[in-house]
Amino acid sequence: MTNNKKIWLITGVSRGLGKALAQAVLDRGDIVIGTTRNGKADLSGDADSLHLLKLELTDPVQIKQTIEVAYQLHGRLNVVVNNAGYGLLGALEEASDQDIQRVFDVNFFGVVHLIRAILPYFRQQQSGHLVNISSIAGLAPMAGSSLYAAAKSAVEGVSQALAQEVEPLGIKVTLVEPGAFRTDFLSDHSIVNSQIKIADYQLTSGKMVQHLADIAGKQLGNPDLGAQAIIQAVEAKEPPLHLVLGSDALKRTRAKLEAMTKNVNAWEVVSKSTDFPDQVTT
Ligand SMILES: NC(=O)c1ccc[n+]([C@@H]2O[C@H](COP(=O)([O-])OP(=O)(O)OC[C@H]3O[C@@H](n4cnc5c(N)ncnc54)[C@H](OP(=O)(O)O)[C@@H]3O)[C@@H](O)[C@H]2O)c1
Repeated sequence: MTNNKKIWLITGVSRGLGKALAQAVLDRGDIVIGTTRNGKADLSGDADSLHLLKLELTDPVQIKQTIEVAYQLHGRLNVVVNNAGYGLLGALEEASDQDIQRVFDVNFFGVVHLIRAILPYFRQQQSGHLVNISSIAGLAPMAGSSLYAAAKSAVEGVSQALAQEVEPLGIKVTLVEPGAFRTDFLSDHSIVNSQIKIADYQLTSGKMVQHLADIAGKQLGNPDLGAQAIIQAVEAKEPPLHLVLGSDALKRTRAKLEAMTKNVNAWEVVSKSTDFPDQVTT
């Protein structure tokens, strides 16, 4: 009976977090519609429970067609995971225009197009759960990844506003904010390093980029455990809007919240000084 099973659409199941999540979903008996750029993935599942579709996230037409095909496979979709993505490292000034465009095309516009393609189906079902894989960089950015952080921050903004728009329609939204996970993310065939190097940024961005190169293959986060955490959040009676993954990400989130509170409190008087006295606060 497929009726009791959840149907998950997951982008980027060829490797990393997407692959771990797809396999964990299959292992618990649910159905996976996985997308990859070449339509192939090394996952174990039978023909009824695993479907692989080709999807390049920079192609909005293909996104719409793929979602339509995915929906028709079982006549419903319960969970859609926007996982596929990649990082761009280097100082803001070191990035090329093409690198900036592409990191947004894949990590932001690809996600937005996919969400807009799925929403009519979710509204029709009056149910559905959107899981958007952001990053700790989207919550608490650091030197050396400003444009990747910007694309992920944009996903954060869209998701938080969207959650309020679709909550009355029975649709849930969860943002996943992982720290460093041991996937291909920092490997040469995934990460993009800006080719221009400006010596003035060596002690800020340069140092951070070197640190990330040093931890490649030794990252703290286990993708299989990350997959279990995402499933736990999806299965929760009240799924979280934010799911921070990894003790590194948790530490950065708390430090960011504390710094922000301190900053806002220090400037409270000035913040309040700009109101017309006769206006109601919104
Ligand atoms: N690992 C980390 O430390 C970390 C931390 C924070 C957030 N994240 C986020 O987690 C998500 C998964 O990353 P990962 O760590 O699993 O990295 P990964 O091992 O490099 O896997 C990335 C996946 O995204 C796919 N992808 C990349 N560009 C694509 C495009 N243009 N169109 C379609 N698919 C594309 C890749 O497909 P191909 O095989 O076709 O290249 C691959 O399946 C990403 O959104 C990433 O930003 C990762």
